[in-house]
Amino acid sequence: MGHQTIKRGLKSAILIGVITFMATACFKDNEEDLYPDNGCNTENVSFSATVQPAINNNCVSCHSGPGASGGVRLGSHAEIVAAVDGGRFLGAIKHESGFSAMPQGGNKLSDCTISQIDAWIAQGKLNN
Ligand code: HEC
Repeated sequence: MGHQTIKRGLKSAILIGVITFMATACFKDNEEDLYPDNGCNTENVSFSATVQPAINNNCVSCHSGPGASGGVRLGSHAEIVAAVDGGRFLGAIKHESGFSAMPQGGNKLSDCTISQIDAWIAQGKLNN
């Protein structure tokens, strides 16, 4: 085996290593997309323990009382359900195009919190 052959062998080994690494990285990303609740509990999401605190901390400063921004009130279970049913809530917190990104001027809610809100909606928007 000549020096060149060894060099070429080494090159392919490195290439295979890089490809394998990239393929696994890709696989992992896809897995996270398919299961966004990795490490995030979306089973039996409680309104009072999870949804309301997230909204209290990120939204009610602007969205409560008579002067609520955009006329959107999020100060109680009934008001939050009405906002969700109004059809502008999820697009706003997911920063979808055609919606005003919320919280305005603040950081997007975490992927976990958004998944938990999705789950709470799918579980019937209970006041639990
Ligand atoms: C700093 C003030 C502020 C905060 C905090 C804030 N909002 Fe808003 N929000 C506004 C204003 C002002 C509007 C009306 C103007 C607009 O749509 O951009 C609005 C509009 C909205 C709308 C209507 C959006 C649309 O596209 O029709 C929804 C739904 C909403 N907010 C939900 C939320 C939620 C949920 C949070 C918390 C995650 C939040 N907002 C946090 C100021 C705020």
